[in-house]
Amino acid sequence: MTIDGKTRTCGLIGNPVEHTLSPVIHNTLADRLGHNMVYVPFLVEEDRVEEAVKGAFALNLLGMNVTVPYKSEVIGSLKEIDSLAEKIGAVNTLVRTEGGYKGYNTDMEGLYRAMDSEGIRIRGEEIILLGAGGAARAVAYLCASKGAAKVYMLNRTKEKAQTVSREVNQAMGSEVIVPMMLEEYGSLPDRQFLAIQGTSVGLSPHVEDVVIADREFYQKIHTGFDLIYSPWETKFMHLVKEGGGKAYNGLKMLLYQGIIAYELWNDVSVSEEDAMIVYDRMKENFI
Ligand code: ATR
Repeated sequence: MTIDGKTRTCGLIGNPVEHTLSPVIHNTLADRLGHNMVYVPFLVEEDRVEEAVKGAFALNLLGMNVTVPYKSEVIGSLKEIDSLAEKIGAVNTLVRTEGGYKGYNTDMEGLYRAMDSEGIRIRGEEIILLGAGGAARAVAYLCASKGAAKVYMLNRTKEKAQTVSREVNQAMGSEVIVPMMLEEYGSLPDRQFLAIQGTSVGLSPHVEDVVIADREFYQKIHTGFDLIYSPWETKFMHLVKEGGGKAYNGLKMLLYQGIIAYELWNDVSVSEEDAMIVYDRMKENFI
């Protein structure tokens, strides 16, 4: 990579940012596609997000990714926001426009592309969604907007699942999301489901944790998708496989959210061949 007077900069704001794989995604793509662009992490301290976004714009940065804990907070610093990101209430990508940044949520389209690349469909499916936090809420919007037949949202705290379901159903004008308590899994219809694990349970170093430990539950799952990618195989995934289902981790979601951001910044379309080269590079750098 040669950095010269025409090099454009993109970056990631978050806290912490030390373990991010995003520089691998974007710098590999810039290299492959011959774009004069560099991507770097920026650690932003609490209460300095607005300053960071203003500073980035003043420094002519082409685009930014936003990660934990600023995905909602950053919305106040945008010039414009994409309608899906607005509904979700979280932004992970800023695209430079005249006078400020426009915010997008590429996490959800990223999940959609990751699932699609594995042949997993949402349209017409009955889906179990574990969790009702920020991540699960966004997944609920994705499933509803991509035509899921039903989404059973199972959460430890039922009120939270109820609030999120009401919100998503209202926004989508349907009754697609059904809130339930985790313990109520026994009353799910007797059929096979796609299950999406959207809680933080099972994340390293708590690799033995899982929201539902009962092996009976996993008999109902034909495909399990965990948003977590560290560890490589979560306990949830292990139990899905043990029950005879297919299981996937969240690394491809991370890959595609990055690819979609890159496409927005550079106005290009990234081929599947290049996507897989980036994916291999991510796996090499995976700790
Ligand atoms: P994120 O932004 O990653 O979604 P979050 O908004 O804090 O994080 O949401 C965490 C999710 O994990 C919630 O659904 C939470 O359940 P509650 O709504 O009942 O808090 C779920 N979660 C966290 N720890 C859990 C545990 N030990 N058992 C079951 N669910 C848990």
